[in-house]
Amino acid sequence: MQYIVQPGGALRGRLRVPGDKSISHRSVILGALSNGVTEVTGLLEGADVLATIAAFRAMGVAIEGPREGCLRIHGVGLQGLQAPQIPLDCGNSGTAMRLLAGVLAGQRFASTLIGDESLQRRPMGRVIEPLRQMGARITAQEGRAPLQIVGAPLHGINYTLPIASAQVKSAILLAGLYAKGRTCVREPAPTRDHSERMLRGFGYALAQEPLYSCLEGGGTLQAQTIDVPADISSATFFLLGATIAPDSDLLLENVGINPTRTGVIEILTRMGARIDLTQLREVGGEPVADIRVRSARLQGIDIPPRLVPLAIDEFPAVFIAAACAEGRTVISGAEELRVKESDRIAVMATGLRTLGIAVEEQPDGAIIHGGALQGGRVDSHGDHRIAMSFAMAALRAAGPIQIEDCRNVATSFPNFPELAIEAGLSLQVQEG
Ligand code: S3P
Repeated sequence: MQYIVQPGGALRGRLRVPGDKSISHRSVILGALSNGVTEVTGLLEGADVLATIAAFRAMGVAIEGPREGCLRIHGVGLQGLQAPQIPLDCGNSGTAMRLLAGVLAGQRFASTLIGDESLQRRPMGRVIEPLRQMGARITAQEGRAPLQIVGAPLHGINYTLPIASAQVKSAILLAGLYAKGRTCVREPAPTRDHSERMLRGFGYALAQEPLYSCLEGGGTLQAQTIDVPADISSATFFLLGATIAPDSDLLLENVGINPTRTGVIEILTRMGARIDLTQLREVGGEPVADIRVRSARLQGIDIPPRLVPLAIDEFPAVFIAAACAEGRTVISGAEELRVKESDRIAVMATGLRTLGIAVEEQPDGAIIHGGALQGGRVDSHGDHRIAMSFAMAALRAAGPIQIEDCRNVATSFPNFPELAIEAGLSLQVQEG
């Protein structure tokens, strides 16, 4: 599937992007492991979350929906999962695989986690290592999926994450629910804390200090009602588009603005973007706002490395913003981008060069020299966020941009083409 996007245009109006992917995964997982019926609204019905739903169904959890973002999960309690008769297919989703590894490590049955080509290339040693320290029995192929997990009795650990990763932190905390004693995780920099917030929401005691979380195994989770806010990572493509396209004025409704996720707002604002948060409120333990964004002239900046984990999924969009800015933008301390759904540093650098932008690739980032975007054909390498970022680049390009391999946009943002067209992007989807 490819996108062909005609140059120019403006983004205007108001829209609501789909539910937050991280929160959607976690609501399925904790709902399944809780006692009682969990009702979810605003769920992201993307392929990644559907993979997590299918995995729990394969372990005997009755789940109704999703229908228009609504899901009813009949929780089976922490000890109620049944042995799956099939390998659990995580598709393209690193979150599904790493968080499920944490849940499965402490079961009384064996299971296998598989994934697509991209997921089979991604490092799993980062979860296997701490889970093994807890007593888990997991085998992999040189630290890569498929993962064979033989359920084993677990014990708590004190673990310092070598890299800032919310997936690894969450996998350890989920395994900690099954472990004897206390499981404590220290992180080198703040990462998204949706697991911690939701565990507390489900009534699980969690001790928290900055960069540190601790829980005691053997408790229970109580079913909840969860209203998932719109995903700031999906909103980001519209923040980018409305910023770079002249005459744009867009309102994005009900977006999650958890401070561990808003790095992109700070980066774009430092570059000169006009982004205003209104109607600030809290929904189900997560801060939410409406976000207004208007066109602005951008300046290149040195992005402070402390913002990298707070904007980790937003760098494909930041690369495009940098290409449209005056002067150079320096991204550093971002080597994690190389092990996302694609090597996002290499793929963005190649795509931008095709469109006439000078990019110096670095091992841990890039130096991007703002300039005039030309039209051309770029390959997203099956990476959803790269496809959507280049689609928005057309708003400022001199000719049409053709983007290859866009099917995985459905993992996180199934209705992206419709919403983008509604807002003013001249996008055409071609099958095949
Ligand atoms: C996620 C954590 C991040 C992020 C991913 C979702 C999560 O991954 O990139 O899209 O839901 O915990 P890492 O933990 O690998 O940084």
